[in-house]
Amino acid sequence: MPYFCSLMTDSKRYLVTAALPYANGPVHIGHLAGCYLPADIYVRYLKALGHDVVFICGSDEHGVPITIKAKKEGITPQQVVDKYHGIMQDAFKNFGIEFSYYGRTSSETHHHTAQEFFKNLYDKGVFKEEITRQYFDEEANQFLADRYITGTCPRCGNPNAYGDQCEKCGTSLSPTDLINPRSALSGNVPVLKETKNWFLPMGEIQGSADFQDYIKRFENWKSNIKGQCASWLNDGLQSRAMTRDLDWGVPVPLPDAEGKVLYVWFDAPIGYISATKEYFAQNGNPDAWKNYWQNEETSLVHFIGKDNIVFHAIIFPMMLMTHGEYNLPVNVPANEFLNLEGDKISTSRNWAVWLHEYLNDFPGRQDELRYVLSSISPETKDSEFTWKDYQTRVNSELVSIFGNFVNRVAVLAQKYYSGVVPENPALKDEKLLTAKANLDRDVDASIQKMNDLLSQVKLRDAQSEWMNIARAGNKFLAETEPWKLVKTDEESVKAIMFAAIQVCAKLAVSAQVFLPHTAKKLAAILNLENFSWHLLNQAEIIATGANLGVAEILYKPVEDVEIEQQLNRLSSIKAAQVEQPKASSLQEVKSDIAYEDFEKIDLRVGKVLEAERVPKADKLLKLTVDLGFEKRTILSGIAEYYKPEELVGKLVTVVANLAPRKIRGIESQGMLLMAGNDFGKLFNVGPENDIEPGSVVK
Ligand code: MF3
Ligand code: ZN
Repeated sequence: MPYFCSLMTDSKRYLVTAALPYANGPVHIGHLAGCYLPADIYVRYLKALGHDVVFICGSDEHGVPITIKAKKEGITPQQVVDKYHGIMQDAFKNFGIEFSYYGRTSSETHHHTAQEFFKNLYDKGVFKEEITRQYFDEEANQFLADRYITGTCPRCGNPNAYGDQCEKCGTSLSPTDLINPRSALSGNVPVLKETKNWFLPMGEIQGSADFQDYIKRFENWKSNIKGQCASWLNDGLQSRAMTRDLDWGVPVPLPDAEGKVLYVWFDAPIGYISATKEYFAQNGNPDAWKNYWQNEETSLVHFIGKDNIVFHAIIFPMMLMTHGEYNLPVNVPANEFLNLEGDKISTSRNWAVWLHEYLNDFPGRQDELRYVLSSISPETKDSEFTWKDYQTRVNSELVSIFGNFVNRVAVLAQKYYSGVVPENPALKDEKLLTAKANLDRDVDASIQKMNDLLSQVKLRDAQSEWMNIARAGNKFLAETEPWKLVKTDEESVKAIMFAAIQVCAKLAVSAQVFLPHTAKKLAAILNLENFSWHLLNQAEIIATGANLGVAEILYKPVEDVEIEQQLNRLSSIKAAQVEQPKASSLQEVKSDIAYEDFEKIDLRVGKVLEAERVPKADKLLKLTVDLGFEKRTILSGIAEYYKPEELVGKLVTVVANLAPRKIRGIESQGMLLMAGNDFGKLFNVGPENDIEPGSVVK
């Protein structure tokens, strides 16, 4: 019985993408589980079925995450992306994530393609040109888009939300939604400044017939996507600026757009198109990309993580739709997040299992990680990676069930038949016949389910059906015990071994989508050259008389000490973090004092009457402060944070009874209270209301 006729009959064309990762750090297990591994499995499946698939990814090299990283490391954005582009590409390759092409958004083709796309929409009059007030950091002389601004999330109260998104509650934000906005560059309170940008009128597009027609597709998509999109659409979409006042990115291709670049979420998804162009140009077929993007017979599928949903399910489709010549996605499978040992994975906190480190510690054991990550894939909700669980799944499933089955068959076949596949005589014994019928039934059922699940992109369950094939094989060997039977009934043992070898072959063919390295090794053990998925339909894959290859152990068990090492590494990272914030950002509270001690300090409200710089002292301002009962000269080390003219008229808090002190030849008769933030910047602590100078602060 054929298992998947409907899928086999029409060979189709697919363009599958995996979200372009920001080139600002190495790849970790969260990336792999969230997007790249599922995309790779699905692509391998489509290819095994004989479909024509182009699989596209690349580095996202623009946007604030890159420039912030550059600032942190004291290098240029270009140096950041050059460094990580290669590291990321290698990591994917090592784990068998087989992109047709891995591009980068700094490429010339990409700049050109993104600008052309923008110009196309601009010429059609799609954008609304608007002058709005945007946050600006006067010290850095820069507009603060997206992640350049942080503040408190209006929805959940997270104090570290970004200008474009709160990572805690997932809400998408704009900078002006933030409570207590601060510049991520300096910690400054930003000012609002006018600037012109080009907006995509998403509200209008939402109402269009084309868009309403498009969103009918959501019906068949995963519920996490459907849910997020429904909430966006119900709230009504807001216009969003497609340009930014930044100096890192694709320049806006308009004459009056000096100093502006395309919004990173405008240019990055176009990166899928540019990478496809480069792929075909490289293969000497420069126009072929159109077949994959602009031909309705091609299915466009975007694999992403859940933080990318709105961009791929709504904004990019709106761009493609208003352009008019492009396909819209037929599916956007988004995964939720993977946590690590009870905590959110975080690049900045180094709370991650990095792929390059894993490879170092577990060389040649990529498929073990692929297997575990697929087993716990966060397909419907967030899931958790723990090292203990990794060990259990590898040892009790990959090693004990699959590895053990394959090894027993290979070793017995060598022992009994010197590696030549025996003939397949009819079984006569009732018990053996039942065992064989059960095997056929179980293997067929698992293959059927595995297929259905793969085609529905339910990859975690599909892999578990694959393992069930090996379970059925083990059960068959346990029921028939060929190692005992060989002494009394050699004919039946031939049939048993013949059947077991066919199960191994089916495991090898189907392993190609989940565990490509394993599939290759197993194929060598079986001497199997043809990998077509259609072989799974056949009762006999390896014929009588065929020579098997050399038996080889596929996996070694994960040892306790290996797990301990990983856990130790993680605990030392935790320990370093617990100590750090105290030392670096928030000071420890000083020891208690009596109220009488506090009372000795005479704090008064003062009003700054004059302020001037002190020659040759960069940090000092000389102030004349009205304390109501007298005027004082006070020197204050705030020249880096306040301009003299900003201070005049301001109310301040003065320590009025501090013994006078000579600084640079000038007597300072008091001190101003200032609050210092993480960046060492000082903020005036003055009364909130206009209150008379000289008033007591208590
Ligand atoms: N760089 C983005 C992220 O890591 C994903 C970009 S996907 C693309 O979240 F569509 F824009 F390319
Ligand atoms: Zn929030």
